[in-house]
Order: sequence, then C-alpha cells, then structure tokens
Amino acid sequence: MPAPHPMNGVERYSATAQLLHWMTVFLVVAAYITSVGGSETRVYSSANDVSRSLHELLGISVFALTLLRVCWRLIFPPPKSPEMPAWMELGARFGHWTIYALLVLVPVTAILGAWFEGHPLTVLVLGNIQPWLPQSRQIGLVLANIHGWLGDVLIWLAGIHAAAALYHHFWRRDTVLISMLPDR
Ligand code: HEM
Ligand code: HEM
Repeated sequence: MPAPHPMNGVERYSATAQLLHWMTVFLVVAAYITSVGGSETRVYSSANDVSRSLHELLGISVFALTLLRVCWRLIFPPPKSPEMPAWMELGARFGHWTIYALLVLVPVTAILGAWFEGHPLTVLVLGNIQPWLPQSRQIGLVLANIHGWLGDVLIWLAGIHAAAALYHHFWRRDTVLISMLPDR
C-alpha cells in the first residue's frame, strides 16, 4: 500500500474563505495597476476618466468584499496553523490584521478624500455618487494623499506576506500555503 501523502488531510481555509482571499488579491493588484497619480487636475482630467473610474470600481469592490470577509472570519475561525515558533505565529497574526485594517482604510480615505474635495465617486457601472459631506479641500487633499501612501504600504505588505507564504512552503515545507489552496 502506498504511504499516505503528507499533504492529505491538511486543514484548509474553507472554499468561501479561499474565494474571498483570491478575489481580494486580484482586485487589489488590479486597483493598484489602474491608480492614477499626480495632481488633482490630472487625476480628474477626462483623459483619465476610464482609468480612474475603473480604479474606483475595483477599490470599492475590495471594500465591500473586505467587510463581508471580516464578518465571515469572525464567525468561522481559520484552520489551526502548523507548528512554528511563537514569534512567527504572533507576527503572522499581527500581519494579517494589519492587512485587514489597510483593506478598510485605503478605500475609506479615498472615498472621504474625493468627497471632501467635492468630487463625486465615478464608479463606472454604478454611475456617479455625489458627495454628501461639506466640502473641505484641505482635508480632502490630505486624505487623498494619505490614500495613495497607504495603497503603496498595502502592496508592500502584501508582497512581504506572499514571500512569507512561499518561505513556509519551500523552506519550512509546512502546510501554510497549502491551507489557502483548493484541495486537488
Ligand atoms: C484596495 C484598494 C485601492 C488601492 C490599492 C488603491 C491604490 C491607490 C494608489 C497607490 C494611488 C496613488 C497613485 C499614485 O500617486 O501614483 C491611488 C490614488 C487614487 N485612488 Fe485609489 N486605491 C484603492 C481604492 C480606491 C477607492 C475605493 C477609490 C474611490 C474613491 C480610490 C480613488 C483614488 C483616487 C481618486 C486617487 C487619486 C488621489 C489623488 O487625488 O491624488 N481608490 N489609489
Ligand atoms: C494583495 C494581496 C494579498 C492580500 C491583501 C492578502 C491578504 C491576506 C489576509 C488578510 C490573510 C489572513 C486570512 C485570515 O486568517 O483571516 C491571508 C492569508 C493567507 N494568504 Fe494572503 N493576501 C495576499 C496575497 C497572497 C499571495 C500572493 C499568497 C501566496 C503566495 C498568499 C497566501 C496566503 C496564505 C497561505 C494565507 C494563510 C496564512 C495562515 O494561515 O497563516 N496571499 N492573506
């Protein structure tokens, strides 16, 4: 009889949790690629309408998905992680919740920033969503700036996070990466 494969019976994230994770990965990367930088005039110029609206649609989808995902996560606990030093486990937990915080803060600063600047959200299929805040350009500009910054931090952190997952798989040869992949 063949020996059982060591990856059989691994506790994985549920199919729903995996779907939410990988959809988020796709949307965050796409939002990053479509982001428009530069001055307010450039961002809201008609030449950048398509890119900006696509960016806003992708980003708002990240936001909606994250709210759903955090609820899901609070109801359904993740699988038990494999043996690892306490500092590593703590680091992973801290890293994950920092990423969740950014998945909320990045869209929120963008939406509030645009509204304070007096711009509607331009969300392709959803049409325009007019500001319902008093205009305050100074606050709006600061928030828009913070948004771009936090977006960069999110991408960096996600990159380190992905590298950590690969490190677990190829160096430690544990089940961390497998737990976020479908059972074949
Ligand atoms: C996870 C989602 C998002 C990521 C990763 C992201 C990333 C970024 C980045 C990196 C920039 C700066 C681009 C540069 O300076 O080169 C930016 C700008 C911008 N983003 Fe997002 N974004 C996200 C969600 C959103 C959402 C939901 C909106 C909706 C309002 C939005 C609206 C904007 C706008 C209007 C700018 C230009 C800011 C300005 O006026 O300077 N973003 N985004
Ligand atoms: C924008 C990109 C990404 C974001 C925002 C992201 C976000 C997250 C978050 C928030 C968690 C915590 C799940 C939980 O327990 O509630 C997680 C787990 C995980 N992610 Fe990602 N991720 C990204 C990209 C990637 C990539 C590229 C890989 C693979 C190379 C990956 C592999 C994993 C694995 C294996 C776990 C489970 C970790 C564990 O149980 O300790 N992620 N991710």
